[in-house]
Amino acid sequence: MIVALLVAGSVAGGLARDLALPAVIPKPQKMETGEGVFKLSAKSRICADRPSRATAEYLAERLRVVTGYPFKVASGKPDSDDILITTKDAHAALGDEGYELTVTSQSTAIRAVKQAGAFHGVQTLLQLLPPQAFAKTKVEGVAWELPAVQIEDQPRFKWRGMMLDVGRHFIPKEDVKRMIDAMALHKLNMFHWHLTEDQGWRIEIKKYPKLTEVGAWRASSPPYGNRNANDGQRHGGFYTQEEVKEVVAYAAARHITVVPEIEMPGHAAAAIASYPEFGNTDVPGFSPRVVTRWGVQPYTFAPREETFRFLEDVLTEVCALFPSKYIHIGGDEAPKTQWKQSACAQEAMKREGLKTEEELQSWFIRRIGKFLESKNRRLIGWDEIQEGGLPKTATMMVWRDAKWAKHALALGNDVVMATTSHTYLDYYQAKSESELARGNEFEAIGGFLPLEKVYSYNPAFVAENPAQEKQILGTQGQVWGEYVKDVNKAQYMAFPRVSALAEVAWTPQAHRNYQDFLRRLPTHLQRLDQMGVKYFKPEPTE
Ligand code: ACM
Repeated sequence: MIVALLVAGSVAGGLARDLALPAVIPKPQKMETGEGVFKLSAKSRICADRPSRATAEYLAERLRVVTGYPFKVASGKPDSDDILITTKDAHAALGDEGYELTVTSQSTAIRAVKQAGAFHGVQTLLQLLPPQAFAKTKVEGVAWELPAVQIEDQPRFKWRGMMLDVGRHFIPKEDVKRMIDAMALHKLNMFHWHLTEDQGWRIEIKKYPKLTEVGAWRASSPPYGNRNANDGQRHGGFYTQEEVKEVVAYAAARHITVVPEIEMPGHAAAAIASYPEFGNTDVPGFSPRVVTRWGVQPYTFAPREETFRFLEDVLTEVCALFPSKYIHIGGDEAPKTQWKQSACAQEAMKREGLKTEEELQSWFIRRIGKFLESKNRRLIGWDEIQEGGLPKTATMMVWRDAKWAKHALALGNDVVMATTSHTYLDYYQAKSESELARGNEFEAIGGFLPLEKVYSYNPAFVAENPAQEKQILGTQGQVWGEYVKDVNKAQYMAFPRVSALAEVAWTPQAHRNYQDFLRRLPTHLQRLDQMGVKYFKPEPTE
């Protein structure tokens, strides 16, 4: 089908030349093919300078698994069968994440200034091998050889991410690691871990054990296929701090930063069910529970000193676990109903001279932002954080509409483009009728976001000048969890749309071409097959 699409599509200018290139995703900035192949053998070693040693070990282990060759890591000069990874002679212009990969019939070398670049070079090198290079065990009968190429490559954007919502459905640590492996394949570098929700709090906080004793568990969930029903089954789970450290280290070894999200002031019902004293206790009918239905909930944190102390304590533990410069504090979909009803919230508004509840939210967020700054971190939040005034140093994650991006850019704030229009991976990727015909478990939240539309995204389209373009840090795909009950469904929703988005984020706009992406995709899907990733099989779209 993909081939048919390609033949039907018009062969654009540079495409004819691109057709001959190896199927690397995301497409490198510059790639030229040469003559011949470089053969790996039982004698091959990975030679690395000191800074490149860990990267060399990573590649060696990957190659050992599939080839069965010993692949020793060495520090000396490479012999004819060896692969070199080095920071020596790397052009400074490659930057923190760029690399140069040169394969001739005589030699293979990755040069990079920084190890993030060398690691991306390794991902490209693996993609030059047959797809069985992504298997989990030794594969016999494969010609382990690399085509001669000259690649110079670096990313367009510095924020290339994926968000995983584990609040709606808990996804165990080992499965999270599998998602991180698939991110590494795509040279993504930001894993946004959505850890708290109305329906579940997923991270152990030592000072507040009830957050996980109570907040990590709900009594029931809507089953697939009926949003207004109860399955009556207890659902939950959480990550201990040791498990969080393990995931953060696993990601760091793959040059991926884990950005934790702790939602406030809304999406907080599970936290408030655990510690009701931090909710708006003076509103009529106050009876917080870990929520058993989807959709926006009225429970918000109360704007009181005790609440700030609680949130600061939580964030102190979070900052100790996550080295990320950015800490995501949510900020989306916080209904103002309770603050309107709460005498205590209204008093806070009077005391602080705030005219609207939106200003109260901004005041709330500013306080948290100042606290994060005191820990040398930066606040990032969904675009609602600007509704009552945007803190100067806040980074905004735009999800609703480009107008929020334009507004933040005009104020001088940085932006990550995560709009529903092109990056919400909880939307259907084929027409809902065809998805649902396959069974209830294929239910999605709604919407329609086919692969081609993801690929057509240009996160910089909102920028009005080069300065604003620099304020756009990048983009990420959102795997929201209401209809994602396990890692298989997460993978189904994510891939290959994340493959398309990775190319959006990595490859210069002028070098991208959907027909050429489709040409490379079948090989890439074979890699995902080898990795055991349960992706959606793309269909022609209308
Ligand atoms: C969001 O979708 N509420 C960020």
